[in-house]
Amino acid sequence: MRYNNRMRLDRILANSGYGTRTEIKELIRKGKVTVNETVIKDPGHHVSETDVIRIGDQGTELKDKVYLLLDKPDNMLTACEDKRLPTVFELVPDNYRTKKISPVGRLDYHTTGLLILTNDGELSHRLTSPRYRIPKVYRVTYEGEPFTEEHIAKLSKGITLNEKSGPVKLAPCEMSLTDSNICELTLYEGKTHEVRRIISHFERTVKELRRIRLGNIELKEEKTGAVRELTPDEISGLYKLCGL
Ligand code: URA
Repeated sequence: MRYNNRMRLDRILANSGYGTRTEIKELIRKGKVTVNETVIKDPGHHVSETDVIRIGDQGTELKDKVYLLLDKPDNMLTACEDKRLPTVFELVPDNYRTKKISPVGRLDYHTTGLLILTNDGELSHRLTSPRYRIPKVYRVTYEGEPFTEEHIAKLSKGITLNEKSGPVKLAPCEMSLTDSNICELTLYEGKTHEVRRIISHFERTVKELRRIRLGNIELKEEKTGAVRELTPDEISGLYKLCGL
């Protein structure tokens, strides 16, 4: 197997469905795993892109895990395919497309910014489940009176949206005021259109919405539409946050 990121041997094998971390550690300690044809008995041994891992005497092809970061442009669906509209998948280089990756959560058609794509189902589930309270930070440019400390206080207690279908209680979240008509919202759950619903609850309108952070992952100098692999440190940071 060729692996894309430097990672612990036991983690890669566990992620690839060869057993639990405990079972894998046992397998490694028994000398059943080779890296570049050398038996490795340390489960914490780090492997990188060029290393070839084999279990027992099978020349096993492992299902690589892929973790991509994309700076989503405006006017694009967070989807793998659509008959009419352009999708973020069109930005993904061909060599990743066969790896069954899908977006972690959704950004609206007009929301830009940080989107992770992966084929690591458990990580994806935990990053989006409200149970794990992974912070998602959005920069919002809005129209209307500037927000005040009063709004911040209300949000920190958790507001209730009065919607046609009935009241919807939101988890407490944080707002910081960065500029007049620009704020940052940190949410810990992922209700549909949550940011837009909060802004409209306060009778303001979203002009631009951009996700700038998810857990420990931040957008840096990425160009809109650019795709890159997460670094090993970024991946282990996400694992830690999700309790994996
Ligand atoms: N909240 C929204 O309203 N839209 C998004 O795209 C993400 C969060």
